[in-house]
Amino acid sequence: MTAQTAMRRTQLYLAPLEGITGYIYRNALEKYFPGADRYFTPFIAPDQNKLLRTKETRDVLPENNHVPELVPQILTNNAQHFIQTAQVLRDMGYEEINLNLGCPSATVVSRRRGSGLLAFPEDLDRLLGEIFDGIDIKVSVKTRIGSEDADEAAALMEIYRKYPLSELIIHPRTQKQLYRGRADQELFGQLLGSFPFPVCYNGDLLTQTDYETFTEKYPQTEYVMLGRGVIADPGLFHRIRTGETTSRKRLREFHDEILAGYREAFGEDRNAMFRMKEIWIYMFRLFPDCEKYAKKLKKAQSLAQYQCAVDAIFEQEMI
Ligand SMILES: Cc1cc2nc3c(=O)[nH]c(=O)nc-3n(C[C@H](O)[C@H](O)[C@H](O)COP(=O)(O)O)c2cc1C
Repeated sequence: MTAQTAMRRTQLYLAPLEGITGYIYRNALEKYFPGADRYFTPFIAPDQNKLLRTKETRDVLPENNHVPELVPQILTNNAQHFIQTAQVLRDMGYEEINLNLGCPSATVVSRRRGSGLLAFPEDLDRLLGEIFDGIDIKVSVKTRIGSEDADEAAALMEIYRKYPLSELIIHPRTQKQLYRGRADQELFGQLLGSFPFPVCYNGDLLTQTDYETFTEKYPQTEYVMLGRGVIADPGLFHRIRTGETTSRKRLREFHDEILAGYREAFGEDRNAMFRMKEIWIYMFRLFPDCEKYAKKLKKAQSLAQYQCAVDAIFEQEMI
């Protein structure tokens, strides 16, 4: 065995994207463009009234999911809500739960959840302490590097190191940055090797070249999570793994399967169409000359108008 083959290949994770990477999307991605090693659900947000809403239950039910490994994600700052929801998920057969400490949206942050908790390190420490005291299932964390400034990272990472995380996924931006600026790969590189548990890189690997440049620069990285790059170019994982290019025909089948899934799940075409438009915000990038039809697609008010725009887009050249 050569040193190359002896080395564990980089594991590829699909990032959770609320509103996009639900079970219908995940199943279609796995069917048409397999390549991801693990999938993460968009966040489940338990509260005092309900641990899982109907939509969230449907998203995690094992019979609805046909991917190799699925990790449900929870967004909360309440240890009891986390533990109780994790127990429900464990009873469904899940072995690991991911805690969301990265979401930067204003409504989440103002309630000190997601990356909103990073501004309160003592509360974060207490939450993790209570969770790990009361849990009998693996817990991983997906985090940003601070609330306002990357200088906060060292203290936050010190907190994470105190707990037996199964994995730490780092998106090296602060909460305040939202998705602006660039993910701080250098900071991630400095942190690599300083944890007693596996770490995963996430952020701005939007193309195969981005991915290859990153993994060449940081060859010790064993786990990489991709989000928007895959939504823009669903064949990305498959191409990274096999070198196979993405055909328009396969992409069209992928698209049609998701649309059919949404129509069936919602029992209503307009909502299905609006959900498809969310995907196209990213996927237009594959069709550089589609501007005119992209406008039509965005404006479409009925499924027939939408389908017409999609037909025209799929006649354009793909990059
Ligand atoms: C529309 C949208 C929805 C997202 N929803 C979630 C979510 O539910 N949970 C989460 O941890 N991150 C969520 N994220 C963040 C992504 O998982 C990921 O961290 C981010 O997009 C950076 O990775 P990328 O540059 O590869 O896209 C979301 C991002 C976007 C753009």
